[in-house]
Amino acid sequence: MSRLATATIHLQALRNNLQQVRERISAGVKIVAVIKADGYGHGLITVARALHQSDLFAVGCIDEALSLKQHGINRPTLLLEGFEGEEELYAISQLGLQTVIHSREQLALLRSTELKKPVTIWLKIESGMNRLGLPAERAEQVLSELQRHKSVSEVVLISHFANADDPDNGMNSEQQHIFESCCRESGLDRSMANSAALLSNSASHYQFVRPGIMLYGSSPLPEQGAEPLGLQAAMTLRAPLIAIKALKKGDSVGYGSTWSAPEDMSMGVIAIGYGHGYPRHLPSGTPVLISGERVPLIGRVSMDLVTVDLSSLPEARVGDLATLWGEGLPVDEIAAHAETISYELLCRLTSRVERQEG
Ligand SMILES: Cc1ncc(COP(=O)(O)O)c(C=O)c1O
Repeated sequence: MSRLATATIHLQALRNNLQQVRERISAGVKIVAVIKADGYGHGLITVARALHQSDLFAVGCIDEALSLKQHGINRPTLLLEGFEGEEELYAISQLGLQTVIHSREQLALLRSTELKKPVTIWLKIESGMNRLGLPAERAEQVLSELQRHKSVSEVVLISHFANADDPDNGMNSEQQHIFESCCRESGLDRSMANSAALLSNSASHYQFVRPGIMLYGSSPLPEQGAEPLGLQAAMTLRAPLIAIKALKKGDSVGYGSTWSAPEDMSMGVIAIGYGHGYPRHLPSGTPVLISGERVPLIGRVSMDLVTVDLSSLPEARVGDLATLWGEGLPVDEIAAHAETISYELLCRLTSRVERQEG
């Protein structure tokens, strides 16, 4: 019996989810697949290969783009955080990457650098997120400078919603208004929609949509599950049941003895814990799937192990595989139990979990 915790990456699910994106946008709108943070924890290269039919990839920084190139993946790639220093800017030009410019410092560097091969610049406009971006009032002037710059081949305008997962939030239309009023006459291509906006606000699609989380089969909208949206889990996290034991009424389980058996019962021990990235603060009652049946977590999650109540599953055997999330158990549901979002659970699995394509 293998004690390995595994994350199976479902290539067909990734392809299905890309198709779900395609079906929601008008012909001609391009898809920038967001595969930063190691493909949201699914493996950068695995995801890039599965999503080769997207129009562009978006990564955080140049190291991720270099990794794509090193694996022979030559799809147009956008650096969402842009560049730091002249060397990175040269590399961007040399490798034919596209880059965001979001700050005065990046603008100054571009101004003072002559590049052999001109680059496509995605000019990031601050519309209300107050994270990265140049002030909307400066956009006209910066744009006219970029359009005259020899090192710039093309400019795209980009901004990011702060509350797209709350479609009724008035800030969405405020941000969109600011974004649209920037360089109104320029006729430039624009990009604003992440997964949540893609699903809930077609007026924000413009020329490029930037889905991330929905490609991985998770819903970006708290009110809506992934399945009704046609999305399929791209990762199933599994680990084996390595012990089954009997508890007497009143026996406590695990560190801190936070849970006690209400009656004589059977419990199981699964070889996964916070050392693999399964959150320590998941409470008793969080579902785990064994042989298609949901059983509740009991007691504290420890570094390598979790414990479950097997009283409803007398047929469970040592060696059975438990699903912690994925097929049959949406990661969004586990994220809700952990009081976080699926993004965090998917991204924080450690290297102890073996990734397998399936
Ligand atoms: C600039 C930008 N665009 C798009 C996305 C994709 O967002 P989501 O995963 O919510 O679709 C992200 C993700 O954080 C982002 O930072």
